[in-house]
Amino acid sequence: MPDLYPLARKLLFAMDAEKAHHATLSMMSTAKNCGFLPFVTGSSYSPNPVESPIEVMGLKFPNRVGLAAGLDKAGTAVGAFGVVGFGHVEIGTVTPRPQPGNDKPRLFRLKEHHAIINRMGFNNPGIDGMLKNLEQSKQDFSGILGINIGKNKDTPNEDYLNDYLACFEGVYGAADYVTANLSSPNTAGLRDLQSADTCRELITRLQQKRDELEPEHGNKHVPIVIKIAPDLSEDAIKGLAAAFSESKVDGVITTNTTIDREAVSVHELASEAGGLSGAPLTAKATEILALLRSEMDPNIPIIGSGGVMSGTDAKAKIDAGASLVQVYSGLIYRGPALVKEILKTV
Ligand SMILES: Cc1cc2nc3c(=O)[nH]c(=O)nc-3n(C[C@H](O)[C@H](O)[C@H](O)COP(=O)(O)O)c2cc1C
Repeated sequence: MPDLYPLARKLLFAMDAEKAHHATLSMMSTAKNCGFLPFVTGSSYSPNPVESPIEVMGLKFPNRVGLAAGLDKAGTAVGAFGVVGFGHVEIGTVTPRPQPGNDKPRLFRLKEHHAIINRMGFNNPGIDGMLKNLEQSKQDFSGILGINIGKNKDTPNEDYLNDYLACFEGVYGAADYVTANLSSPNTAGLRDLQSADTCRELITRLQQKRDELEPEHGNKHVPIVIKIAPDLSEDAIKGLAAAFSESKVDGVITTNTTIDREAVSVHELASEAGGLSGAPLTAKATEILALLRSEMDPNIPIIGSGGVMSGTDAKAKIDAGASLVQVYSGLIYRGPALVKEILKTV
């Protein structure tokens, strides 16, 4: 089946980036419901992810490739991403209450670099809105569903725990695993929560909450994952590795987007505020992954995110110690063929 994405990309890249994003999600869902998504994505029809199973965090992942958080923030297209071949889909970041996010424009393509800058600011429908969307979108998805949680913009940092605990409780029944996002550069002060002490406190409180929730959910045990930034010093990573090992977190995602602009400094959009993702992040994210892997308890799995633009990039993350990989920007630039390429390579 021919890959129609290069043609689709021409049309999408001619549109405003955020409009193209919403158009793609709604077209994917419609195409899936009508049964012609495989013709658009070049995949042979299956409502479910490609099978190449692996067990991570006590969960059976159909394969090693997942969709990173932020693309399906509201959880409207989970099943459609299953058709594309993803073994897991991480939706969110969701906050307790709905919020509009930052003013537009807030999403920029740096085409020459195969990169994106975003300062979306957790635009999302809140827990209730997301759960409602999932009733439809998750129906025939048999992969692993991760739900990424954060705090509302107007919640002061000193009250951050209330928001993470409320989200954890709210999504517990729907999620296979939950990621606490402490690393978005687009919510003021969020990254300050990445200190080793705060992480220890957050993980312990989430674990206590899980002890309460498990019996209410038929003994369902939901792994807790922490997502960190690439802009951390070596010492900070070592401190976090110790905190993650001691508190026995279930998994870590390295990394979120970067605020560093060195790799794109000559680009006219380089000074746009926000997080940079895609090809300029590949090497840095893999370095952080390798450092965390060498410092942290080897039993805690790492999910590699950041500049996975090819099968080779995905293999480099696995070789550096990742159990799973996630893609976002690579999907925008390469389309669904990237998922197939990664599955062939890793
Ligand atoms: C437009 C956009 C929105 C994002 N939103 C979120 C988010 O809400 N929560 C989150 O944890 N990560 C978010 N991310 C980060 C991605 O999940 C991913 O970690 C990062 O982009 C690096 O991967 P990539 O180079 O494959 O894009 C976002 C990324 C982009 C480009």
